[in-house]
Amino acid sequence: MEIYHLSMECYPVAKVGGLADVVGALPKYQNKIEGIHAHVVMPWYNKPFVWDHDFEVVFDGIIHQNLQAFQVQVLRERSNVLGFELYLVKIPGLLDRDNPYGYWDESQQFLAFQHGTLHWLSAMGIRPDVLHCHDYHTGLVPFMIEHCPEFRFLKGVKTIGTIHNGEYQGEMRWEMLSYFPWVEDGYSLGLLDWAGNINPLAAMIKCCNAFNAVSGGYLEELFQSFRGLEGLVRQEHAKAYGIINGIDTEVWNPQTDDFLDVNYNINNARGGKWKNKTSLCKEYGLNPDLPLFAFIGRFAGEKGADLLPDIIINSIQQTNGGLNIMVLGSGDFYLENRLRELDFTFVNFALDLGYKEFLSHKIYASADFLLMPSRVEPCGLNQMYAMRYGTIPIVRYTGGLRDTVRDITTGGGGLNFTHPGSDDAVHAMHRAMEFFYNGEYMSMLIHTNMSYDFSWEKSAENYIELYKK
Ligand code: ADP
Ligand code: GLC
Repeated sequence: MEIYHLSMECYPVAKVGGLADVVGALPKYQNKIEGIHAHVVMPWYNKPFVWDHDFEVVFDGIIHQNLQAFQVQVLRERSNVLGFELYLVKIPGLLDRDNPYGYWDESQQFLAFQHGTLHWLSAMGIRPDVLHCHDYHTGLVPFMIEHCPEFRFLKGVKTIGTIHNGEYQGEMRWEMLSYFPWVEDGYSLGLLDWAGNINPLAAMIKCCNAFNAVSGGYLEELFQSFRGLEGLVRQEHAKAYGIINGIDTEVWNPQTDDFLDVNYNINNARGGKWKNKTSLCKEYGLNPDLPLFAFIGRFAGEKGADLLPDIIINSIQQTNGGLNIMVLGSGDFYLENRLRELDFTFVNFALDLGYKEFLSHKIYASADFLLMPSRVEPCGLNQMYAMRYGTIPIVRYTGGLRDTVRDITTGGGGLNFTHPGSDDAVHAMHRAMEFFYNGEYMSMLIHTNMSYDFSWEKSAENYIELYKK
C-alpha cells in the first residue's frame, strides 16, 4: 500500500510544533509494517537539513496561479535517512522560504504546495493508494483531485484528513479562487465554502473519505466547539475517527538522548534526573533543592500561556519562594515582555525565549513537573515526552491531555485540573509539592510515568486499519 503524507512540517527537516514530530515519526513506524510504503511530501525550506543532505531532482515542471507561471521542482532525499522517502516541493518565490508560516501571502503559498504536489504526481503517473493530508494547509487536496481536470489521473484516490489543530482553518476570500487550479464543474464550488469564505478545513471534512482528530477526547470536543464547524462535523460524523498520536521513542529516549548531561533509564531515574537538574539549575541560577516546574511551548491562547504570569507570581508568593519555575517558549510579543520582567523580578523564575530543541530535551529530563494549562489541546506531545523522562505532568483536563494523563487520585501518575485559570493550576502545583517532599512516593510516580508505553506502534496500526476501510 502506497501512502503519501502531505504536510507543511516534518521533524527534523522543519519543525514549528507537534505536527512536525508526528509527520517525522508516523511514516517511519508505518514502514515497519509489512506491505506498507509511506512517503512524506513537504515544501522545500532554507534549513540546515536541506543543505546537509543529498537530494536529486525527480521532477521539473510548471504550474499556473492567477495567470502567472511558476517553476515546480521536486527533490528526493537520496539515502532515506529518516526511514521513509522524503520529497521536497520547491517553487521559487513561494516554496523556498526560511520557515513554514508567518508570511503575508501564505494562502497562496499553501495553494502552491498542494497544486505543485498534485501536478507532479499526475504528470509522473504516480497514483498512491492513499493521500494523507495533515491540517488545513493540505485540506484542499481531496477537493482538487475530484474537481480539477488537471489532476484527473488522481481522481478516486482515497484521502484521509488529519486534524491536528481545528483552531486554524485557513479561511480566505473568494477572490483567491483565481489562484486555484482550474475547477471544471462550477456547481462543486460550494464544497469549498463555509460562512461565505473558502474554508480549506471545511472543504477537507466535506471531501475526504475519512478524517480524524489526533485524540478521541479532542474529537468529542469538536462536536461541541470547533470555531464554527460544529454543525459540519456532526453532519459528517460517519467518517470521523479519533486516533491518538504516539511519540518517537527512538528520538525521545533518556537512555540515549545526546542532549542530556547524563543519560538514565527507569532503574536509575532519580539519580539521573537529579544530575541533569543540578546542571540546568546552575546554568539558570535556580536552587536545585526546590521542586522545578516547567512549561515548554508556543505562547498562544490555546496553550494557556497567558496564564503564566499569574501562575508564576501566585505560586512563588504563596509558597514563599518554595518552588522554581522555568519557561521555554516564544510567541505573543506582550507575553514575552511580561515574562522578561518577571525573570528580572523573581530569582525562582527562569526564562529562555526562543525555539531550542536541545534545551527542551534537557528540561524534560531535569524538571520534576511539567505544567500544561492548555485551553485547547488536540493531543499534546509534551506531556508524553515528560512522562517518558520521568517528569510528572500537571495538565488541564482537555482533549488529548485527558486521554493520556490520569490523575493520581484515579490511579494515574499525573495531576489534572479542570478550569483553565491560574487558581486551579496553582492549586494543582500545591498538590504536586506534597508529593515532591515524599521521597518514596515521588520515586514511585517517576517509575509509573516512565513505564507507560506511548510508542507509535499501535497508532500506526490504527491508521493502516483506517486506510484499509
Ligand atoms: P503544538 O504542536 O500545539 O505546539 P505539541 O505538544 O503537539 O504542541 O508539540 C510541541 C512540540 O514542540 C514538542 O516537541 C515540544 O517539545 C516542542 N516545542 C515547543 N516549544 C518549543 C521551544 N520553544 N523550544 C523547543 N521545543 C519546543
Ligand atoms: C497540534 C496540536 C497538538 C498536537 C499536534 C500534533 O499542533 O496543537 O495538541 O499534539 O498538533 O498532532
